[in-house]
Amino acid sequence: MIKKPFIAPSVLSCDFTKMGEQIRQVEGVGCSFFHIDVMDGIFVPNISIGQPVVKSLRKFTRSVLDTHLMITEPERYIDSFADAGADILTIHIESTANPAAVLKKIKDRGVIPAVSIKPKTDPALLQPLLPLCGMILVMTVEPGFGGQRMISEALDNLREVRKMVDASGYKIDIEVDGGIDTETIGLAVAAGADIIVAGSAVFGKSDPAAAYLELDKAIGDYTSI
Ligand code: DX5
Ligand code: ZN
Repeated sequence: MIKKPFIAPSVLSCDFTKMGEQIRQVEGVGCSFFHIDVMDGIFVPNISIGQPVVKSLRKFTRSVLDTHLMITEPERYIDSFADAGADILTIHIESTANPAAVLKKIKDRGVIPAVSIKPKTDPALLQPLLPLCGMILVMTVEPGFGGQRMISEALDNLREVRKMVDASGYKIDIEVDGGIDTETIGLAVAAGADIIVAGSAVFGKSDPAAAYLELDKAIGDYTSI
């Protein structure tokens, strides 16, 4: 059986006064995995949310909290995000002098370690980190903002990472993030994504549950038994 890729709605596109309500709507149609974008205004030119929101969500839901740290020197905050209840912590390879040490620290805290590359970063840099991560996040927009158009050249990185992971024999999920909608989701699946982040295409819509189902249907062609 080939595992069907699935969608990770990004709460960045929620109406923050209704985040719980909107998460419940999407959980109601089968979603149990949410992407949380943390931005520090330094690694990326935008500021979003942090540990207090992860902590509140942890009390609110048993769904997977997939936390994407777009912050400089993430080693400073691994403990506090682990304490807050993140299930997955993704760091950027570009954000720290020693990504291997940070990934080890995440694992030691009992959290799934993941590493991300921006669109212009060489995927070959990930090779030595493969034994240390449970997930790789390939960005298909420059990180910092929801609602951008996919950089289609970044799908080459996704294909390269897919090959690298398959050749390695390690069990690593590959996630894609940025500019996913009903038009581009097929490209991401064909390029090898297992987990597909979608912000504006789910929580940016007036009916997030219907939008989630519509995106999920667009993956349908790739399901097998
Ligand atoms: C961008 C974030 C994304 C963002 C995706 O820096 O990492 O997760 O929420 O938003 P969309 O799906 O609207 O491109
Ligand atoms: Zn993200």
